[in-house]
Amino acid sequence: MDLKSKIRVIENFPKEGISFKDITTLIKDKDAFKKAVDLVVEDLKEKEVDYIVGPEARGFLFGAAVAYALEVGFIPVRKPGKLPGKTSSHEYELEYGTNTLEIHTDAIEKGKKVAIVDDLLATGGTMLSAAKLIESLGGEVVAMEFLIELESLGGRDKLGKYYINSLVQYEK
Ligand code: PRP
Ligand code: MG
Repeated sequence: MDLKSKIRVIENFPKEGISFKDITTLIKDKDAFKKAVDLVVEDLKEKEVDYIVGPEARGFLFGAAVAYALEVGFIPVRKPGKLPGKTSSHEYELEYGTNTLEIHTDAIEKGKKVAIVDDLLATGGTMLSAAKLIESLGGEVVAMEFLIELESLGGRDKLGKYYINSLVQYEK
C-alpha cells in the first residue's frame, strides 16, 4: 500500500506558495485509512502507552482511531474555549501571531505514558505545545506519531528530545 499516492496535494492552498497535503482522500479509502492506523499502532505496541492525545482537528481523525485499535483511552487537546471543564492552556508562537491549545487539567494522571498522534509535522509548534500541556499535568510523552512529515520545516529539530515517527515524508 503506497500511502503517499492516496494523499492529494493541492498547490497554493490556503495561500500562495503553500503545497497543501490533503488527507481527506486517504481517509476516505478504507484500506489506506486502515493501513495508516495499523502502522501507527504497530509502532506503539511496545511502548506501553496509557493514552493517546490528539490535537484538534485533524489529530482527532487519526488519534481516536489509533486509540481504539490500541485499546487505550483518547484525550483531546483543543483550540481555546471548546473544553467544558477546568483547562490548562499553552500559547505558542506562529510566524505571525500566536496560537493557544488547551487540555482538561484532570485529563492525565501523574506518571501516565502518552503518545501524541497528529496528521502532519510542519514546524512542530502544535506538537511541542501538546507535549508541554501533557508534561505540565505530570504525564510522560513516550512518542509522537505523524502521518506526514514536511522535512524542510524544522519540526524534527524542534522536537529533538522526543521519539518521532512519520509514515510519509515530503520536502515541504
Ligand atoms: C495543522 C496540522 C497540524 C499542524 C502542523 O493543523 O493538522 O496539527 O498544522 O503544523 P506545525 O507543525 O507547524 O504546528 P491546523 O492548526 O492547521 O488545524 P486543523 O488540524 O484544525 O486543521
Ligand atoms: Mg492540526
